[in-house]
Amino acid sequence: MQIRILGSGAGGGLPQWNCNCENCRRARNRRGDILPRTQSSIAVSSDGVDWILINASPDLLTQLRAHPDMQPARAPRDSGIAAVVLCDAQIDHVTGLLMLRERTAPLPLYACAPVFEDLSSGLPVVPLLGHYSGVEAHAIVPGECFTISPCASIRFTALAVDSKAPPYSPHRHAAVPGDNIALLIEDVKNNTRVFYAPGLEKISDEVHAAMKEADLVLVDGTFWRASEMIDHGFSTKHAAEMGHLALCGEGGDRGMIDWLDTLPRGARKVLTHINNTNPVLDPHSAEYAQLRAHGIEVAHDGMQFQL
Ligand code: MLT
Ligand code: MN
Ligand code: ZN
Repeated sequence: MQIRILGSGAGGGLPQWNCNCENCRRARNRRGDILPRTQSSIAVSSDGVDWILINASPDLLTQLRAHPDMQPARAPRDSGIAAVVLCDAQIDHVTGLLMLRERTAPLPLYACAPVFEDLSSGLPVVPLLGHYSGVEAHAIVPGECFTISPCASIRFTALAVDSKAPPYSPHRHAAVPGDNIALLIEDVKNNTRVFYAPGLEKISDEVHAAMKEADLVLVDGTFWRASEMIDHGFSTKHAAEMGHLALCGEGGDRGMIDWLDTLPRGARKVLTHINNTNPVLDPHSAEYAQLRAHGIEVAHDGMQFQL
């Protein structure tokens, strides 16, 4: 299977429109080698023609323009996007759905029940799309695997994870299973596995076991430090209050780097959903060097994996 990183940034992307932090300034002015990044999304394919979009970024149209091969042009109106799978109901993962409204048939959309609820109430994207091409809703049940035609050799298993429902969700401060999922994506022909979790606050035994099985671990690299947004004066919230485990551990608790250190040597470990404040975006930073010493990579838009 092929995995393509369409967007490697967290909400806001890089540069974020209203941000003048060092990373945003350098990315905006193309000074140094901080690459601009669009908001979080990946695409998966078994044949390089039909793709399953995982999360629909507000930057979806820009992402598709960067990948002309995702338009197979088999008909006057066509798309390589066969279906969309959602990991949560956050703005950076769902508003791209609105950009798919010109479809000629309802959009196959896979998400857990709490996500469909948020997308029918707080952010009513699903009823809204009903005025256009509509949505063919498929409920994901955490723990159960599913396949999506025409990529039937790819098996998806959703795992309920601790992270955060969006601010417009009734579950924001009282999470329910399915608000956030990680995906184990398996190529049943090649017997290869990807673990994907752009939002991960705590790593349960079940999640850890799935991470250990994967050949490619593509995980939440939002923040370097839990207090990063506070340190910048941008927010009063710690990483955990936003549903993210910081890369560096604190007070004896493991950070994402420590968790990735527990995985088998052969696995590729790649960070994605990286916030614009994160120092690892600068390939000349000490923090980036530290990641590399742990064998951890930083995703960039357009990065691809063949497994
Ligand atoms: C998050 O993962 O915390 C989101 O990126 C927040 C957002 O999109 O506003
Ligand atoms: Mn996000
Ligand atoms: Zn910034």
